[in-house]
Amino acid sequence: MDVITLVTALLIGFSPSLSDSGARELAPAYLRCEYRVDPLGMDETSPRLSWIVESDRRNQKQTAYRILVASSPGILSEDRGDLWDTGRVESGETINIIYEGERLESRMRCYWKVQVRDGEGRPSSWSEPAFWSMGLLGESDWQADWIGYDRPREVEPEGEVLNLPPARYVRTTFRSGKPVHRATAYVTALGLCDVYLNGARISEDYFNPGWTDYAKRVYYRTYDVTGMIRSGENTMGAVLADGWFSGYLGWRQDIRDHYGSRLRLRAQLHIEYTDGSEEVIASGPDWKAATGPLREADLYMGEAYDARLEMEGWDSPGFDDAGWEVVDTGADVEPSVQAHPGPPVRAVAEFTPVSITEPRQGEYVVDLGQIFSGVVRISVRGRPGQEITIRHAERLNPDGTIYTANLRGARATDYYICKGDGVETWTPRFTFHGFQYVGITGLSEPPTSGTVTGIALTSATPLAGRFECSEQMLNRLHQNVYWTQAANFIDIPTDCPQRDERLGWTGDAQVYVRAAAMNSDVQTFFTKWLVDLEDAQRADGQFPTVAPLKISGNDGGPAWADAGVICPWTIYEVYEDKRLLARHYDSMKRFIEFCKGRSTPDLLPPEDFHAFGDWLNIQADTPREVIYTAYFAYSTKLTAMAAEVLGRTSEAAEYNTLFERIRSAFNRAYVLEDGRILGDTQTCYVLALAFDLVEGDRREQAAEHLISRIRERDWHLSTGFVGTKDLMLVLTEIGATDVAYRLLHNDTFPSWGFTIKHGATSIWERWDGWTPENGFQDPGMNSFAHYSFGAVYQWMVENIGGIRTDGPGYRNITIAPRPDGRITWARVGYNSIRGSILSLWRTEGRTFSLDVTIPANTTARVVLPVADPGDVTESGMAVGEAEGVEGVSVEDGRVIVTVGSGTYHFACTEWINPSANGVNETANPYKARHLSPVKR
Ligand code: BGC
Repeated sequence: MDVITLVTALLIGFSPSLSDSGARELAPAYLRCEYRVDPLGMDETSPRLSWIVESDRRNQKQTAYRILVASSPGILSEDRGDLWDTGRVESGETINIIYEGERLESRMRCYWKVQVRDGEGRPSSWSEPAFWSMGLLGESDWQADWIGYDRPREVEPEGEVLNLPPARYVRTTFRSGKPVHRATAYVTALGLCDVYLNGARISEDYFNPGWTDYAKRVYYRTYDVTGMIRSGENTMGAVLADGWFSGYLGWRQDIRDHYGSRLRLRAQLHIEYTDGSEEVIASGPDWKAATGPLREADLYMGEAYDARLEMEGWDSPGFDDAGWEVVDTGADVEPSVQAHPGPPVRAVAEFTPVSITEPRQGEYVVDLGQIFSGVVRISVRGRPGQEITIRHAERLNPDGTIYTANLRGARATDYYICKGDGVETWTPRFTFHGFQYVGITGLSEPPTSGTVTGIALTSATPLAGRFECSEQMLNRLHQNVYWTQAANFIDIPTDCPQRDERLGWTGDAQVYVRAAAMNSDVQTFFTKWLVDLEDAQRADGQFPTVAPLKISGNDGGPAWADAGVICPWTIYEVYEDKRLLARHYDSMKRFIEFCKGRSTPDLLPPEDFHAFGDWLNIQADTPREVIYTAYFAYSTKLTAMAAEVLGRTSEAAEYNTLFERIRSAFNRAYVLEDGRILGDTQTCYVLALAFDLVEGDRREQAAEHLISRIRERDWHLSTGFVGTKDLMLVLTEIGATDVAYRLLHNDTFPSWGFTIKHGATSIWERWDGWTPENGFQDPGMNSFAHYSFGAVYQWMVENIGGIRTDGPGYRNITIAPRPDGRITWARVGYNSIRGSILSLWRTEGRTFSLDVTIPANTTARVVLPVADPGDVTESGMAVGEAEGVEGVSVEDGRVIVTVGSGTYHFACTEWINPSANGVNETANPYKARHLSPVKR
């Protein structure tokens, strides 16, 4: 098993299996509260419950459910729900069931299970029990003070190269004498914190409490630490580092302390004893503080750790803290403290060296085989005071040394100073780097494969997608997309993980969000970021360039600001999350009103406005006004659709009318008689077609112009961030899937395949990030881990695997693989909110076979590449007679089989092979459908 497969296998462990095995009877599984498994410390007082139903029989449906929520596992095991018993509810719904039981109070624990009934009304067994706990719901629940240690800043120039302040250590001791029933820690910080109890870190999470607009809100996390409390003396401690609160952010090397300079911890430990009594240990003025071995800790710059300064046992009882000082209190900001709604950052994979070289004497270069975000664990021997330097890079220079020019101001270097005590192992905790290569100097002996291990960090979004096919280049492309996503989803969706930027760019997020959701379950991740985005919305309704809003401007401009509409809509579409849509609907509306307000009376752009344009296109600038008007129309349409979903019919009508008016304005101002659009770039046509801005003949003409613009580039794309998002989808929509496949299979410049031919293990920021002719592009902006061009993965899932949702939330599914005659098999899986979907097909000569798995409680239209139902069998039977098949029809020359849930094995003879008679440049067996954004 190669590393990628191994890692994929590990990640799949996060979520329900992608295999098609299931219980025989209809059975509820994967119970979640607010889309998390057994979450601790919720502050949603009407949480939503969800599950999936599994069965290995066909055509299974849930017709009713009963939920029990109890205050103890014992009560639940007696099939009683003292907090909530829904009774039998006649409903097929499995998601978004709003808890309506007893009032939920701070720190309550709720144990729950569900029973469902199948199509015949037969009850399932009860599900495995699940639980959630409530957090600290009000400010009055917090007894803890904000504490820190400010003096180290006053004596600053201790730091190594950059004069960075050291990390701060705080501690307290307490006694616990009675048997412990449960102990729970609630933890947050202004800065980053790691909390320790009796010698061990209380969690594997990195970078708590994440990045928010700390002036407005900061998140806490809740940990069950029951097993960590000792009888007798106990010690609780924490390490505090600068992080996003006061470390470097973005390209401004002249400012730190963006939110404040005083690092703070707020931590509260509740110990419940078996006798019913309770004790609270809270951070306060009685805690002690010091500095220690961690001399520097900055997200961009790296860490410096002097092991000689280790304070053995500082986080355990019995340590002499007489030399420690009293902590400081008070805080620079007064944010609202809330439960973190998203996943924590975790280590998800390890990479071992694939090669070690010594291109320069004493500097070893370790290739970890994959670009990722994270750190390395080193295992070294050295004399006391020996300094080991670890530099990180995405690529190599021609001489084999590491290429760091594109890191700009990010030092991305960690230092370890040995204590000289046998093998010393160290892993940084408060920094991350985007890298594949490590340059290591200062070692006593040449490194071995155990000296450096890469640890990949990402927000732990459960893996949801699987992609494999007969073309190795496409498998690599999928891996590159996945790892670039993982590298950039670090509490917020960032643009890049390596240079001094790493900001939540709105444009990048909106072009990629749909593809992201095909790789991983990003519902809670975006739930969190959409709050950051709304926090950053300008008073007049405009959305910013980045969220949280720091460094860059508060005027996102077209295609960037629109993230405030596109992202909530996309999360709704994928997860049917109506509540999220409702939460952001007003801000969507304010944005549309802002766009309208600044447009001319005939809805065209004002004279002066900020726009990034079709960022990083290839000599094919699309006029900014075309992008402005196209996106204004699209966001208006999506807002109208959101209004409709939320039952705001008159507003829906109003925005639909506005959409029509913007569409007319677009046509009048930018579309010529022959269908050419101002600018005449691929992106112009892509936007007009994707957003439904041209109709009838104009649409046909625009489609032809698009194909011509691609043909003129010898069948290559010229699109930047904005155009690439929709390019492939539009090609398929206009019936030019063969052209889409050509772009996908290309390995000449510019293409995805070109980057892979030149060793890419990630998606590059620029198509020409490196070329044989020119080497590296301008190091001022040349990231090798930017996900925008990875948006192509949506097309791959929807067309190679053929998996699409019809309407929100994969309740109704289409499986319509479009084999191109070159790929001979594909296996594409997706864990939807309603369960696992699998599309596995193979061509052999004139036979096309397709195995499809559809979750219980859903239906699918399976579109087969064959014209005659007589040429189709299912599990060896005539297709119309097979169990679970609800209908067979022929549409547009293709057989369509409507099925209920289950696994089906279709075999088609005489499949329609588009490449059998040579590739026809524009013909496609699938007739163009009218494009409605809701289908996208
Ligand atoms: C970022 C991009 C971003 C762009 C906008 C760049 O520096 O890396 O991802 O969208 O700026 O201009």
